[in-house]
Amino acid sequence: MKPLLLYDDEQVVLARRLGRLAGYALRRIEHKRFPDGESLIRVRAPLNKRRVVILSALDRPDPKLFPALLAAAACRDGGARHVTWLVPYLPYMRQDKAFRSGEAVAARVWARVTSQHMDRVVTVDPHLHRIHDLQTIFQVPVHVVSAMPAVARFIHRRLKAPVVIGPDVESKQWVSQVAAMENLDVHVLKKHRVSGTRVRVRWEVPAELKRRTFVLIDDIIASGGTMAEVIRQLKRSGCRKIVCIGVHPVFAAGAEQKIRRAGASAIVSCNTLPHSTNRIDMASLLAPTLRQLGSSS
Ligand code: R5P
Repeated sequence: MKPLLLYDDEQVVLARRLGRLAGYALRRIEHKRFPDGESLIRVRAPLNKRRVVILSALDRPDPKLFPALLAAAACRDGGARHVTWLVPYLPYMRQDKAFRSGEAVAARVWARVTSQHMDRVVTVDPHLHRIHDLQTIFQVPVHVVSAMPAVARFIHRRLKAPVVIGPDVESKQWVSQVAAMENLDVHVLKKHRVSGTRVRVRWEVPAELKRRTFVLIDDIIASGGTMAEVIRQLKRSGCRKIVCIGVHPVFAAGAEQKIRRAGASAIVSCNTLPHSTNRIDMASLLAPTLRQLGSSS
């Protein structure tokens, strides 16, 4: 019997592509909410001795976490041999320390809970800042897939005279990979965070670059503050073509408008989360990992 890929309604597009490419049977997780807000989860598929992957879109994670854990429990109770959680966007990773006394380190709590319920985690370009290695916080194997080959391919095919910009030092890991793959100029800027939604970036753009296509690459677009601030800087320096690429299109309310108002020529994202800006498909990069998981004994 084929391994099973379970998905929620949000991830149907990615699930269908992955099912085809990786050779999985597909099944939607049935999810009902009672009037009091509690969830009822049902997995209607043969589970005994089967390898199962649960695909979740974990932006706005809190109401989705418990239903996913129930789905994992349903698989185990039905006799599944191995349950992998495919969470292309790994939430809570920016809360990687207690910034003030009395706060929990959410990234560690989330990793601990996940490790109790899943046998393995597969994710895409997690936000690693103060935690450098996911294996130090998860007690189950974590497999990280990079979106950068797909981002590099998109730039190669669609953009003329690109120069790659990392909005902050953390983005260096991604922009330097893309630049190396396509042999592009790259600049990493310094970002100063003023508040949860406001940041400050300063950069005097060298005159010889101003007519190029500026490709801003970041892992997460959340409030849109980072992208908008870099765009404003570039515009002030006379740059015209500015394309924003985000791996994880979290997009808090108003974020997309904020970036467009700042003057983005285009906003593009990977389909780690479903969003109208999805142009870069992750299925072909995720499929080899799933194929391997589905066939191991
Ligand atoms: C933080 O360092 C991340 O890499 C992103 O730059 C950040 O999460 C973007 O958030 P926002 O869209 O809220 O500025």
